[in-house]
Amino acid sequence: MLKGEALAAERARARSLRTLRVSSREKGDLIMLGIGGFTPLEGLMTRADWEGVCDGFRTASGLFWPIPITLSSDDAVAVGSDIALADPDGGELLATMRVTEKYPIDKAHECASVFGTTDPAHPGVKMVMQQPGVNLAGPVKVLSDGGFKAKYGALFMTPAETRAEFERLGWSRVAAFQTRNPMHRSHEYLAKVAIETCDGVLVHSLLGALKPGDIPAEVRTRAIAVLIENYFRPGTVVQAGYPLDMRYAGPREALLHALFRQNYGCSHQIVGRDHAGVGSYYGPFDAHRIFDEIPGDALETRPLRMDVTFWCYKCGGMASGRTCPHGGADRLQVSGTQLRQWLSESSPVPPEFSRPEVLEVLRAYYTELGVT
Ligand code: ADX
Repeated sequence: MLKGEALAAERARARSLRTLRVSSREKGDLIMLGIGGFTPLEGLMTRADWEGVCDGFRTASGLFWPIPITLSSDDAVAVGSDIALADPDGGELLATMRVTEKYPIDKAHECASVFGTTDPAHPGVKMVMQQPGVNLAGPVKVLSDGGFKAKYGALFMTPAETRAEFERLGWSRVAAFQTRNPMHRSHEYLAKVAIETCDGVLVHSLLGALKPGDIPAEVRTRAIAVLIENYFRPGTVVQAGYPLDMRYAGPREALLHALFRQNYGCSHQIVGRDHAGVGSYYGPFDAHRIFDEIPGDALETRPLRMDVTFWCYKCGGMASGRTCPHGGADRLQVSGTQLRQWLSESSPVPPEFSRPEVLEVLRAYYTELGVT
């Protein structure tokens, strides 16, 4: 991401360039490139990168990378030209790009490789199928954080900022807790299990777009903040967010999470049940196994694999599939759909599932939506 005079000059130049509006997913990727979340990538992937990543988890230069980072467009942009890339909503200029290559992709091949399915009902597949059929490759200069800092303030931390914060705190063993949800007690337990053996946890919320109907990031992050304030010891958690959209690529996305958390300074990545999954496209522990299938030197950040977590009435506390000897009937397991239904009907939610302070934030949001 450019700064100071270089930024002003490139912004002025960008205004004279042909402008392409990017998708929401592409906007998140551009900002990650700009803030150093996707280091050492310098831009959008070439055909050889795309193919290597889909088929063998490697870019053309041999860099480990689990998911293509690409820009789609109609065919009209000329190779060798410079273009400006604009926000999908406001049209703000996000980046400039030198187009070094343009190539059609086999979308079904990308979907089968990345998502393990070509079912158009899968939200990640749907997104790829809807994008234009040609990809543009080339290095980018990023001009903006896309408004994330203005919207999320101190929560929007760059990798350099989280690394500096961990250093200030004296942390070297840091677990990242990935989330796209408000944190309930099963999430809280995962983070606390990590704190038992690490210096601290980065609770890292996705701030980009999710499926329609999901709880927006400003509500989720507020719910997480009250949980941390009331139930974690000061100095054990850093709460932050990152600008990507959810891809729902399950195991492959778990690898991407570990990869970019390496840039954010995390030594470990918590990987629980059905990490980054959706529906029943992935087995609950496919995202655990994929870390055994990649070469040992692919990632420095290690997975902290955790079994399914829940409240067990017989144990009288939080437990996991590895620690609790009791059966399903003794365990409280609440699906997202069930919770949304309780909240939208203003029905009580068991305190063993979610902390009251968290529920208060969520109920206020549902009241705002007009639910009584
Ligand atoms: S995710 O798409 O960001 O993975 P979510 O916010 O629900 O979705 O999950 C955050 C993390 O908690 C992931 O590592 C996920 O595997 C884990 N997780 C969520 N719920 C449970 C649970 N009940 N038991 C074990 N792990 C869980």
